[in-house]
Amino acid sequence: MRSRGKAANAVSPEFEDLPAALLDWYARHARDLPWRVGPKARAAGATPDPYRVWLAEIMLQQTTVPHAARYFHAFTERWPAVDDLAAAEDGDVMAAWAGLGYYARARNLLKCAREVAAAGAWPKTEKGLRELPGIGAYTAGAVAALAFGERAPAVDGNVDRVFARLLAAKGEWKEEKARIAAIVRDLVPGDRPGEFAEALMDLGATICTPKRPNCLICPVRPWCAAHAEGEPERYPVKPAKKAKPKRKGEVFAVFRGDDVLVERRPDKGLLGGMLALPTTEWKEAGDVSRPVWAEEAGETLGEVRHVFTHFELRLDVIRFSLEAAPDGYDWMEAGTAADAFPSVFAKALKLAV
Ligand code: ADE
Repeated sequence: MRSRGKAANAVSPEFEDLPAALLDWYARHARDLPWRVGPKARAAGATPDPYRVWLAEIMLQQTTVPHAARYFHAFTERWPAVDDLAAAEDGDVMAAWAGLGYYARARNLLKCAREVAAAGAWPKTEKGLRELPGIGAYTAGAVAALAFGERAPAVDGNVDRVFARLLAAKGEWKEEKARIAAIVRDLVPGDRPGEFAEALMDLGATICTPKRPNCLICPVRPWCAAHAEGEPERYPVKPAKKAKPKRKGEVFAVFRGDDVLVERRPDKGLLGGMLALPTTEWKEAGDVSRPVWAEEAGETLGEVRHVFTHFELRLDVIRFSLEAAPDGYDWMEAGTAADAFPSVFAKALKLAV
């Protein structure tokens, strides 16, 4: 592992003193988070558990810190170590993930845990971690730096924003991102890579926020070109997002007493492997056809909306009762089902009860 000395580096001599200022701020202002070993404990030689670091990173790709923290506690109580998670039933993990969204992540989470358990240990480098299911460039860098002290960068959208401002990056966003990645890699201090990554996360979350950055108390303001220009919130300058296509369909809230009719979605595809309410196809245009057993049925209660990565969905919620479950469906107590449903079905069920 290379340590950064005093000498100016190739890519970013202008930021040479920035890591020390940032780490100094972090030592005083680090957020206390359940997957973290704080600066004091780190100084005393403690290192975080890679399982906890990895689990938190995967959850945080999905949601905010407070929401992730609730899931993190539930997961680590139920599956305290990677071997425990590896031995879990798929359905239990998918249900525990319900509400976090993007269920391919939960499937990869299990695959990854099983690979690590089978290997008997985590790979300890960015490169080795990158080979595991569900671990992309960001997560590999983050886990390598946070848990294994490798001199690796962890650049997510927050770090992109911080550096877009430091640089007042006006170029094409894809190129600017590549420039930022190179600069951050270069700046990671060899002796405290984990704290450097955490400090950037905290800076992005608490000071260099998207809408109203609090430059007054920013520890890296002396290096910030956007602050010097006077309008830091202008950055990052990104291309406009394309509007998402809109799909429509119907979802069926079918009751027998306190039970609701559920199905397990196929492993492959959207919301794969998740427990779900019966639903029609979701189409951009044209009518959807109902299953035979729902053809006559009828009370439309209203509509739920949900935004997926690649499209926006509107579903009419249809409620009725049945005595017998059609082939391929089961009854489940409505509250239990609600806890295991992905958000779109939880919303539909809520409308129906
Ligand atoms: N955002 C992404 N990873 C994080 C972490 N480990 N702690 C806090 N915020 C984060």
